[in-house]
Amino acid sequence: MTILRTERLLLRPVREEDVPTFEAFYGDPEVMSVRKYGVLDPETARVHVRAMLDHWDKHGFGMWVVADLADGVFMGECGVRWQEEGAEFELSYGLSSQFRGRGLATEAARAVIDHARGTLKLERVVAIARSSNHVSHRILEKLGMELISRNPFGRPDLVKYLLSTRTGASS
Ligand SMILES: CC(C)(COP(=O)(O)OP(=O)(O)OC[C@H]1O[C@@H](n2cnc3c(N)ncnc32)[C@H](O)[C@@H]1OP(=O)(O)O)[C@@H](O)C(=O)NCCC(=O)NCCS
Repeated sequence: MTILRTERLLLRPVREEDVPTFEAFYGDPEVMSVRKYGVLDPETARVHVRAMLDHWDKHGFGMWVVADLADGVFMGECGVRWQEEGAEFELSYGLSSQFRGRGLATEAARAVIDHARGTLKLERVVAIARSSNHVSHRILEKLGMELISRNPFGRPDLVKYLLSTRTGASS
């Protein structure tokens, strides 16, 4: 199971014992109201953690817990996972509100993308965001991702970004 380190962050695979943390995280409207799954009740949160664990078992990568490198405090999640509906690998991230505005999501996502391209050799990684989620658009652009659809899955409230091996560096 791969651990990634950046200047300020430790990214480690999600573990079974993270369930209580994710029940709170996925129940937080500040984190989840703009995301695909929306705010989750504790039972659904547990199902999502189970799915993340299964993804790691099946693919050897998935969602990482994003923690403070200095003290291990949980900040959020970031990773790449198989997106059934699009049959593609999708970048996903979220941070608790107290850790935002310091470039940490970009730092985590850059480490994940570098790993996806360099080690996992994924040829395509996509990201789906709400059309109104300009913070997320900015992050995806900083990663070198390209806006390829303003109507993915026939949903004009979403946008789709792509990073292909031909799109250039993630910096
Ligand atoms: C999206 C999220 C992870 C961003 O975390 P973060 O650590 O604050 O992000 P970063 O600091 O790395 O980057 C944010 C960028 O957006 C910019 N930004 C902030 N507010 C903005 C706005 N209203 N419009 C456009 N850009 C904005 C910042 O200036 C920064 O860009 P810069 O480095 O060029 O200055 C966090 O807000 C979050 O968890 N949101 C809820 C979950 C979510 O939206 N997940 C993504 C679903 S697709």
